[in-house]
Amino acid sequence: MYDFRPAPDTPKPETYRQLLDAADALTAGEPDAVANMANIAALLWDFLPDLNWSGFYRVVDGQLVLGPFMGRPACIRIPLGQGVCGIAASEGKTQLVEDVHAFPGHIACDAVTNSELVVPVARDGHVIAVIDLDSPEPARFDAEDAAGIEAVAAMLSTRI
Ligand code: SME
Repeated sequence: MYDFRPAPDTPKPETYRQLLDAADALTAGEPDAVANMANIAALLWDFLPDLNWSGFYRVVDGQLVLGPFMGRPACIRIPLGQGVCGIAASEGKTQLVEDVHAFPGHIACDAVTNSELVVPVARDGHVIAVIDLDSPEPARFDAEDAAGIEAVAAMLSTRI
């Protein structure tokens, strides 16, 4: 049985240290990318409060394709450069969006989403996937969240 959830009221930096350790432990030595993405999507969902979606889009044949996730069914294909995910993938840069309704081109997969964090996963200098977190809370994510998810993305580079 796995139970990696942090204790209630754990400070955010400590939460992300524990999350990185748990993500490392869950994926170390496992070569199956789908299994690893599935467990990380579930881990993010368990660890981070106030999410309505956590998961992956993978770069496949020049577009983003839905990967393992927790939450409601979502848009399946997103062109690079479109939406928050497509921009994160095409620019190779984290997108921290406090208000998705003010983000030009945001793709609404679930009307309850108000804020979003998208972090690219790169291997050998190329974006291979993005980690997408959505929240119904406005401005749910900050620079600490971005840094914490970027550390997970770096660790996953050769595991997904
Ligand atoms: N909102 C994203 C689409 C993916 S869903 O949030 C799961 C975007 O604008 O790219």
